[in-house]
Amino acid sequence: MIRFENVFKRYDGGAPAVTDLTLDIPEASITVFVGPSGCGKTTSLRMVNRMVDATSGTIEVDGRDISAVPPHQLRRSMGYVMQAGGLMPHRTIAENIATVPRLLGTSRARSRGRALELLETVGLDRDLAGRYPAQLSGGQQQRVGVARALAADPPILLMDEPFSAVDPVVRTELQNELLRLQSQLSKTIVFVTHDIDEAILLGDHVAVMGNGGVLQQFSPPAELLHAPANDFVARFIGRDRGFRALSFRPASELDWSPAAGYSETDLAAAVAIPRTASVRAALDAALTSLSGLVVAQDQDGAVAGVLDAAGIGRQIGGRDSDVVA
Ligand SMILES: Nc1ncnc2c1ncn2[C@@H]1O[C@H](COP(=O)(O)OP(=O)(O)OP(=O)(O)O)[C@@H](O)[C@H]1O
Ligand SMILES: [Mg+2]
Repeated sequence: MIRFENVFKRYDGGAPAVTDLTLDIPEASITVFVGPSGCGKTTSLRMVNRMVDATSGTIEVDGRDISAVPPHQLRRSMGYVMQAGGLMPHRTIAENIATVPRLLGTSRARSRGRALELLETVGLDRDLAGRYPAQLSGGQQQRVGVARALAADPPILLMDEPFSAVDPVVRTELQNELLRLQSQLSKTIVFVTHDIDEAILLGDHVAVMGNGGVLQQFSPPAELLHAPANDFVARFIGRDRGFRALSFRPASELDWSPAAGYSETDLAAAVAIPRTASVRAALDAALTSLSGLVVAQDQDGAVAGVLDAAGIGRQIGGRDSDVVA
């Protein structure tokens, strides 16, 4: 676990970049720092591996005050992924990935073997190992950046806007890939972004920071959407937060109608979703289906029930009407 306690950072007597930050980052989950430009996200992240030292306050990692741990030692337990990959241009992909294991004294052959394995872990072809970073697409470079951070198998991953330099389609792929990876690796991930949608998608917990590095809210994303702590958070999340909150409600909580009441033709034109999908997915399916119907399916594909958008709307109306305004 990473614990911030009354942490302040002021660069060269300037205005505070981080103000009195107190926060527990839980193990084996993704914590996202989100907020507008200059609000101290990168500074907060870099204080964790001592690329930046706090002006006052303490940061503990697994119960140890990090100010007493030499930075090089601290960083062995932390991978760092930065924007646009940050790869070394004159080294091959395999050499880039193997950087930290090599520094730690792992043999060239073993480091290379590990690099090849990691290429696959992050969804890349082993054939890319001998190329140089400039010969890869932006999205591929980002994946290599993640592979490099994972090379020494650190329990903690620090990621600073790792996906902000790629186009929206690739970005979505990388986000899903990170979630897939995390479900296998269970790292403690601290992720910085200025994109609230990315924060809500990826975060198990989200820390919303405001100007001067003042923490505004720290909570799971569903809570952020349902109960923003103040106007700043509400404005930052945006107006459609009631709709987005539906992503966190399972479709199985809806009262589904029996299929018997509908015609074969309408059912055939319905969009099907798994019962385990979200209410948002159910609503989206109903709105895009030709017959206006969404069908919920059990794991074996059997029809568990049918609804249309109005039927979903009636069921979600009461509970969410207060947060839509
Ligand atoms: N090395 C530095 N020296 C002086 N001031 C700095 C330094 N690094 C950052 N700052 C200042 O500290 C504040 C916080 O910067 P930081 O980089 O942490 O913000 P950020 O939230 O990551 O912003 P962005 O979204 O633009 O990356 C800003 O006002 C910035 O100008
Ligand atoms: Mg930054």
